[in-house]
Amino acid sequence: MSPNGDSPSPQTLSEDQASAEMASLAEEIRGHDHHYYVEARPRISDAAYDRLYRRLQALEEAFPHLADPDSPTQRVGVDPVSQLPTVAHAAPMLSLDSSQEPDAVRRFDERVRKALEGDPTYVLEPKLDGASLELVYEGGVLSRAVTRGNGREGEGVTENVRTIQSVPLRLRDDVRPVPSFLSIRGEVLIFLSDFERMNERILEEGGEPFANPRNAAAGALRQLDSRITATRPLRLLAYDILAVEGASFDSDLDGVDALRDWGLPVPERIQRAESAEEILEYHGAYDRDRDDLDYEIDGVVIKLDDLAAREDLGATSHHPRWAMAFKFEPRKEVTRIDRIAIQVGRTGALTPVALLRPVEVGGVTVSRASLHNRDELVRKDIREGDLVRVQRAGDVIPQVVERILEEDRERSAPFEMPTRCPVCDTPVEVKGPLTRCPNVFGCRAQLKGRIVHFASRNALDIEGLGEETAVLLVEAGLVPEIATLFDLTPDELLPLPGFAEKSAENLVAAIQAKREPELRRFLFGLGIPEVGVTVARDLAQHFGSLEAVLAADQEALEEVAGVGPIMSEQIVAFLADPQHAEAIQAVLARGVRPMGPEPAEGGSDALAGTKWVFTGALERLARGDAKALVEAAGGRVVGSVSKATSFVVVGADPGSKYDKAVSLSIPVLTEAEFVERMREAGLEVPE
Ligand code: IVH
Repeated sequence: MSPNGDSPSPQTLSEDQASAEMASLAEEIRGHDHHYYVEARPRISDAAYDRLYRRLQALEEAFPHLADPDSPTQRVGVDPVSQLPTVAHAAPMLSLDSSQEPDAVRRFDERVRKALEGDPTYVLEPKLDGASLELVYEGGVLSRAVTRGNGREGEGVTENVRTIQSVPLRLRDDVRPVPSFLSIRGEVLIFLSDFERMNERILEEGGEPFANPRNAAAGALRQLDSRITATRPLRLLAYDILAVEGASFDSDLDGVDALRDWGLPVPERIQRAESAEEILEYHGAYDRDRDDLDYEIDGVVIKLDDLAAREDLGATSHHPRWAMAFKFEPRKEVTRIDRIAIQVGRTGALTPVALLRPVEVGGVTVSRASLHNRDELVRKDIREGDLVRVQRAGDVIPQVVERILEEDRERSAPFEMPTRCPVCDTPVEVKGPLTRCPNVFGCRAQLKGRIVHFASRNALDIEGLGEETAVLLVEAGLVPEIATLFDLTPDELLPLPGFAEKSAENLVAAIQAKREPELRRFLFGLGIPEVGVTVARDLAQHFGSLEAVLAADQEALEEVAGVGPIMSEQIVAFLADPQHAEAIQAVLARGVRPMGPEPAEGGSDALAGTKWVFTGALERLARGDAKALVEAAGGRVVGSVSKATSFVVVGADPGSKYDKAVSLSIPVLTEAEFVERMREAGLEVPE
């Protein structure tokens, strides 16, 4: 029965009638979903589908207690979470050994033949360029989804994956019975056509488009808010059974057949091969056809078909010996350099950029490529008007690989780096191969760079504030310095191109939401030379507050493991620079409060203010655990011994830190004494 204008209003139905209609609608919609997303052969019009879907929704609203949690309407996402949980995989998700060389494939085949003492059958399939995922079905119902993570455990993303239309929430059981437990591995992708549509929509809404489908897919998969994931056109292709109970298979292809029967989408063109030459042929054919596919692949995967033989070959900790990836060469195309332009970055570096006649390199139009610096230009002898080969490997920025010699063509003069900043006209400084604009606070290009960096994912992570928006803000004179981001109002944004009421409000709200950023993000966002994500995190952990970081001298900074004299000098110079100091104070004056790391849970402050150094090998405790103990009691572990060190814990074969502790008369503890002190401080030390 299909609903139409005459379907009885839900309120007139009895519970039994409603329940029966809901079950049959769900069944019918699942069937259409399967045809649309898995078979790619829709059976009904979008309008007819929408009618079914809305009818089911109406019934579920009228009879919420009868609604099935796995109903096809339950793909819109749920309330956001604050963190994704860490979840162990049912079996390790290994990586693949990979190569671009045909000879590596021949050697692989030889090794397999030797180990098996016989002729192998391989399964060949495309190597999908997306995000790897484990899906677990218990009793045929999707019970969890976990990202690959480190291969042993990943992030639980079940709610996000439930929004992916091609992922069955329930396995089909009409062709073969479902197993009691099934863990499968697949790849989450965004198809190229969907990717383009999505980016167009994002641009229309004034947002920042994604650089490539893989990053967009991986990002969407790890969203904290599954309602956002639901708006991204993710797809799944399943290719491997990680673990199964209640069914068994002899070969990979049997497993693939089962995945298909259970309603899971699998890659196209999976086939058998018996020799290295057949593998090379398959690889060549796929390489030629890859531009016609609607998703990105970066090679082919070769797997032994016979599962018992796989056991014989085994695995290293990194990859199985029964499979390998045979990757494609990065795509290269030839085009001409129309002009060489100069780009001024956040730090004032002037970078020559080749403006190219637009050329499609593997489905992406490339119209510019970095030429890095003057030396690189000279080395490759690249000039305006030259014909060049450009390449794009994965998500790497396009590169000019080489110049193509043209015998009869007159070339332009060698490119000269400018002597003044093309943006603010300040005379440049030249240091080795680098050319810099020294006008840090007066140069619009550097200001734009600072804004983009401050708002970037590892810094304050301000949604909707990317390159394009930063350009608009600076050009309109709305943000003369980072701090004034916090003064922006929706009314000021409205006149800017691409902004409407909603997007203006969203951007202001996104900025205001970051008034209490984590200290490590704030420190990274300042763009201090040498301070990357890791150093910023370590500084935050060590000092605990922005005030403490600002007050630290070089010696204090060097107590942080990984901070050496060069880095500490740069940090102090940056923070002591009156203009940078003023810029930071201006942000704080807007009420922005960077938040130090939370003290460890269940901790005490028995060791507050103390600094600890470890040297030599501990026997009972892992270094990480020892550090955690100190930190749980409010102490800090630092990398080097100084007058400010409170204790040095000495294990077997201590290094020079021990000698230094003795010479500075710093108390030295053995591991046993350390454990004793931790217990006195009220901490539980594992036996
Ligand atoms: S099989 C142990 N098959 O490529 C072998 N992997 O490092 C299990 N990938 O992230 C992997 N397409 O997720 C296999 N058809 C395919 C694949 C595939 C893409 C991914 C895999 C992993 C990476 C290899």
